[in-house]
Amino acid sequence: MADGRSPAPGWLVDQHGRRKRKLRLSLTDRCNLRCAYCMPQNPVWLPRKDVLDIDELLAVARLFVTELGITHIRLTGGEPTLRGGLDQLVLGLQPLRALGLQRLSMTTNGTRLRPLARLLRESGLDDLNISIDARDPALFRKLTRGSIEPVLDGIAAAKEAGLPFKLNAVVIRDYNDGEIAALADWAFAQQLTLRFIEFMPLDNQQQWSRERVVTEPEILARLSHYALEKIPRSGADPATEYLLDGRHRLGIITTVSNPFCGSCDRVRLTATGEIFPCLFSQKGVSLRDALRRGDNDARLAALIRDAVWHKDRGFAAPGGYVERLVSMHHLGG
Ligand code: GTP
Ligand code: 5AD
Ligand code: SF4
Repeated sequence: MADGRSPAPGWLVDQHGRRKRKLRLSLTDRCNLRCAYCMPQNPVWLPRKDVLDIDELLAVARLFVTELGITHIRLTGGEPTLRGGLDQLVLGLQPLRALGLQRLSMTTNGTRLRPLARLLRESGLDDLNISIDARDPALFRKLTRGSIEPVLDGIAAAKEAGLPFKLNAVVIRDYNDGEIAALADWAFAQQLTLRFIEFMPLDNQQQWSRERVVTEPEILARLSHYALEKIPRSGADPATEYLLDGRHRLGIITTVSNPFCGSCDRVRLTATGEIFPCLFSQKGVSLRDALRRGDNDARLAALIRDAVWHKDRGFAAPGGYVERLVSMHHLGG
């Protein structure tokens, strides 16, 4: 085992000795933005009947926590706030806290937080990651085809609701690399935690190339107006963290230039109930089919264990774009 212990019976482990603690649960493929690096130009949404309903999501989450040792659940999309019954789901997950769930988070584009932040906090959501790839409104629109205003308002709403959050910014050369300093300065001024993310070869429009990736050293070079101190990495956190001027944290998620797969503790479930052990897995294993044909918990757990056991080592930097069968808006990042 990576942590020097033998696997406990309830643990979910892969063939490379990595224990899974975090489940990323996609609630929908739908989104109200069209980020260039994620969505196809003209997405065809999944038929509703193919998507796990709230009861199925609750049953699956319960299984992962009680039978498989998952301690963190992150709700993703598409855009999870577009999912009807989101607050009911968050409420329904609360009993899992007594059974091993330690943290319930959500990754969102922020646009619908004004009406939802308080309700989600009151329903039991612990925290958020909110995407904001540019501070400049015109550039934000170019990247997402949406307006930045609801996102800024959503960030304000999360603050007002007392819902802790981090900000995510995917950096793409010749699109928004000119925004690195502006985003960092803005986050610094407001004491918001920001993480820059290297562009990964998972975009739908096949724009990815090595040249478009702005690497960690390049990002740091754009932040040379700060004193930068590297913070020792903790556990399986995907971000390398830095302290700016001795007092403000900033992260960089370096999947391409410095993959962190060796400590990967995640497993993913798409909105249609397919298990993707790795973000870069070529195909999934359907948990939904087993669930809908009435398999009992022991069989479902065995299916998940087997899928996760076969998880590959992880990201191997490709020379060019890799054609994939699943899109980022199905996988939830
Ligand atoms: P916390 O660390 O718990 O805050 O969550 P997170 O950073 O994993 O979640 P988030 O949804 O905010 O993802 C931020 C970026 O990290 C996105 O670009 C994800 O695609 C990427 N990411 C998340 N999990 C993994 C992973 O297991 N492997 C890789 N390579 N990238 C990941
Ligand atoms: N490369 C890097 N990050 C991506 N995300 C979506 N697509 C990509 C990509 N191709 C990020 C989003 C969000 C998270 C869920 O995944 O910006 O922060
Ligand atoms: Fe985990 Fe795969 Fe991401 Fe590596 S690339 S950190 S193995 S999900």
